[in-house]
Amino acid sequence: MRTTTARAYPNIALIKYWGKRDEARILPAAGSLSMTLDAFETTTTVIPTPDGVADTLELDGQPADEEATRRIAAFLDHVRALAGSEQKVMVASRNSVPTGAGLASSASGFAALATAAAAAFELDLDTRDLSRLARLGSGSACRSVLPGVSVWHAGDDETSFAEPVSAPDMRMVVLTVDRGRKPISSRSAMRLTAATSPFYDAWVASTETSLSAMIDACSEGDFTRIGEITESHALRMHALIQSTTPPIRFLRPQSVAIFDAVEKLRENGLEAYSTADAGPNVVVLVRPENTEAVARALEGLGDIRIVGPGPGAQLLPEGSEVPSGA
Ligand code: DP6
Repeated sequence: MRTTTARAYPNIALIKYWGKRDEARILPAAGSLSMTLDAFETTTTVIPTPDGVADTLELDGQPADEEATRRIAAFLDHVRALAGSEQKVMVASRNSVPTGAGLASSASGFAALATAAAAAFELDLDTRDLSRLARLGSGSACRSVLPGVSVWHAGDDETSFAEPVSAPDMRMVVLTVDRGRKPISSRSAMRLTAATSPFYDAWVASTETSLSAMIDACSEGDFTRIGEITESHALRMHALIQSTTPPIRFLRPQSVAIFDAVEKLRENGLEAYSTADAGPNVVVLVRPENTEAVARALEGLGDIRIVGPGPGAQLLPEGSEVPSGA
């Protein structure tokens, strides 16, 4: 075993993953498609602890709470099973934005951890198997193993991984309206949706249809169609989530104001489309040449950050270790 460090970036889904058909193996009810970003990265170091009796986790220099530690220990059990090892490790992870705010996502976290842990345990995994492994930590993490635009197939344990999709060059204008921790995790909210929403089956069926339309639009380089499907699919997901018992609403008045402003931009001939994950922050999809104009037009509606397609998860050279706070 050796000490390893990896870096991965979050992704923003254009076709959303919301619902599992297998909780233990994290198999999604439908496929999804996203763009891995070039900002908001997570860097993670895995250090073998020969005398350790349990895995430990440090997040941004602080010991993590019990729940987060349990979640990464459960993930590391999958890695140990693959490696035929019982070795416990220390994990030190650093996010470039606050954890739990909807952007420092579990996607970048588990993509980085899977990459670092696989190397630490000397598993020789190709991209496909690394994507499958990351999926066991957090579903959306399987897409952050890949660079740029990728599709995550629903499939079974063997066939549910992300792979690249050809797509036009695109940018995103990220508007952060709230940096606080989410009131409910994606995982719990997803479970509640499947258990209580009367619209869940229709969501799953229509997501498959939207996904194949999206893959066609991507391969044709049809930005307008990509944008239209993106915005419509995001609104469907939020409608679905609001239909749970008890209802959950992630979008805030400021989020809705951004959707309105983006619609106005389109009416005025500037093409842009909104999406939002399980939180109040809004991400606006634009053509590269319109990025600055859209960002300027949305000034004042949130903290703005312009992002583009980013790299897949990668191992960093020795000497890149995340400093431990201990
Ligand atoms: C709204 O991947 O965080 O961002 O698999 O339970 O860990 P778990 O969920 P997670 O859910 C992400 C949901 C989403 C949509 C998406 O990224 O596709």
